[in-house]
Amino acid sequence: MPPTAPHSGDFEAVAEAAERRWAIIVAVIIAVLVAIMIFVGLHWASMPPSRVETVDAKTLHIKGEFVESNLGTAMGADGKVTVRVVAQQYSFVPQCIVVPAGMPVTFRGTSSDVIHGFIVGTTNANTMLIPGFVSTFTTTFPHAGEQLMPCHEYCGTGHEAMWAHVQVLPADEFIARARAEERLSCVPR
Ligand code: CUA
Repeated sequence: MPPTAPHSGDFEAVAEAAERRWAIIVAVIIAVLVAIMIFVGLHWASMPPSRVETVDAKTLHIKGEFVESNLGTAMGADGKVTVRVVAQQYSFVPQCIVVPAGMPVTFRGTSSDVIHGFIVGTTNANTMLIPGFVSTFTTTFPHAGEQLMPCHEYCGTGHEAMWAHVQVLPADEFIARARAEERLSCVPR
């Protein structure tokens, strides 16, 4: 006697049970992902917009904080160090940035044309420079030395040639230079 073939209704029941099981698993995965997104969003644990501060990209070079004479590194009377930088196709201004080691440094940057990437060598200084917005973050460079600063966001045909240098100076050397000059950079003159 040949083995009895299972009734087609059994297949349907098995398939339905499997479908229901997988639907529940998928729903649980989605619920967990949504919960993670809500959690990191509320706690600013994911990469947040550093601050939503706008600036007019069209008048950047003419007036305001990002005119060329105001770019580079400045130390305020309170000792706070601020670096202002503008990205454009295909360079950064200034092309060589001076920062102190072991002191908090606040970067303020924007773009005059398209989105550019901003990253300092092997450090955690990493953001995007977006036309119309000011990207700002504060970081501390632990060691003195030279770092490369390549654009890491594709911005056009000259993208791979777009990079700058960062010179991390020992704090005392930096402070001496910052007291002597209003705006610091290491662009050769
Ligand atoms: Cu600027 Cu890529």
